[in-house]
Amino acid sequence: MINRIGVVGLGYVGLPLACAFASKFFKVIGLDTDSEKIELIKKGETPIHEEGLQELLKKVLEEGSLKVTSSYREMIEESDACFVCVGTPSNPDGSVDLRYIKEAVEIIGETLRWVDKYFLLIIRSTIPPGTTSNLIKNILEERSGKKLGQYGLCFNPEFLREGRALHDIFNPDRIIIGAIDEKSRELLLDIYKRFHGESMPPVLITSPINAELIKYASNVFLATKISFINMISQLCQRLPNADVKVVADGIGMDKRIGREFLDAGLGWGGSCFPKDVKAFLKFGEEMGLRLKLVESIIEINESQIENAVKLAKELVGGLNGKRISILGLAFKPGTDDVRESRAIRLIEELLKYDVEIRVHDPKALEKAKKILGDGVTYCKTIEECLTSSDLCILATEWPEYKELNQELLRKYMRNPALLDCRRLYDPEGFKEIKFAAIGLGLREMKSMRV
Ligand code: UDX
Repeated sequence: MINRIGVVGLGYVGLPLACAFASKFFKVIGLDTDSEKIELIKKGETPIHEEGLQELLKKVLEEGSLKVTSSYREMIEESDACFVCVGTPSNPDGSVDLRYIKEAVEIIGETLRWVDKYFLLIIRSTIPPGTTSNLIKNILEERSGKKLGQYGLCFNPEFLREGRALHDIFNPDRIIIGAIDEKSRELLLDIYKRFHGESMPPVLITSPINAELIKYASNVFLATKISFINMISQLCQRLPNADVKVVADGIGMDKRIGREFLDAGLGWGGSCFPKDVKAFLKFGEEMGLRLKLVESIIEINESQIENAVKLAKELVGGLNGKRISILGLAFKPGTDDVRESRAIRLIEELLKYDVEIRVHDPKALEKAKKILGDGVTYCKTIEECLTSSDLCILATEWPEYKELNQELLRKYMRNPALLDCRRLYDPEGFKEIKFAAIGLGLREMKSMRV
């Protein structure tokens, strides 16, 4: 039975996981090589924005069930299993850069050589199919001088959504265990049984390669669902009276399809979908298979930016000389993360015109500044962002933007016009100003019959 757990890499995946385990009878030691991050966490401050994480971090630190370090030796001495949650970013060609995971496993292997105990390594970083059984196992055996049985190894994917990480850790739809042998499987299963207790979710036990494929296939499938509805949205825009939102509701009522991930908009962004979709495409290529469906969903995702720019131009009669207000910069609501944010992509595209851009986001202004620099004006309030503007574009559907109405737009904007790129608003509420939305048939065509 394993009671002491290590977590390597205290980012969006690792830190919530460490705090969650520490809140449920486990002694946890978290490791990160970034010493500034470690100092911050020691003070009880989270380097990332995650719902409920700040409070939980403080609690587990005070209770003494979580400790953090930069030393692998300390982590291995004070744990019997560790979850590896380091980043697996993309190489310029879209393939996975395994540098950080290799480094982590090499040091863990070298440290294990001098430690006389069984140790279970659980890989949680997203890695191409085959990596656990080939690369990771080989590095570990070579560096530690140990054989399977003296150590254990599993690939155990995470399906956490950013902003909802703690919720998803405590209430997952399923647990996938890709174990290399029976002992590793039983030990990891036991960790989860004790963690979830009565509310243990369904478990699928399989080989590492299937588990690795499940992780990629899940993300690619969800991205496909979004690109599918975005394709329908482009069609709807060409059809008077058509509305992608209603179409999505209708499709989603079929239980075999489901309504989730059918929200049309600027497309999928974030730290996972873009990276994993490209890596999957590359992986197919390496296997001698051209994944045409995956190529298409990337193409549709990109075309939603052009689609939004075209809608904006049509709505205000050309962009040059216009002042544009962008509401929302995070890649989705509830996070300060702007990685691969579609809002940022849209701004970059708009900046190719002679426009002045003002931006607002409840959480992501600081992170957006690092990408957009001095090219745009950063506003602390929605009103400030709207001031004297000719076009307001809703790019990320934060709940606070729902309060927007045509009176407010009229009051602050020079020429009130709203482009809803996330389908947050009821078009009925904006009848007196220029209004357009992704996936909505043009209003002036409404009287036409098809
Ligand atoms: C995703 C997966 O949901 C999660 O299981 C995986 O572990 C990591 O990747 P996350 O990136 O946090 O999680 O965000 P998610 O909520 O899935 O949204 C991803 C992107 O798709 C966002 O840009 C979002 O705006 C977009 N999206 C989502 C849509 O455009 N339409 C939808 O219907 C749903």
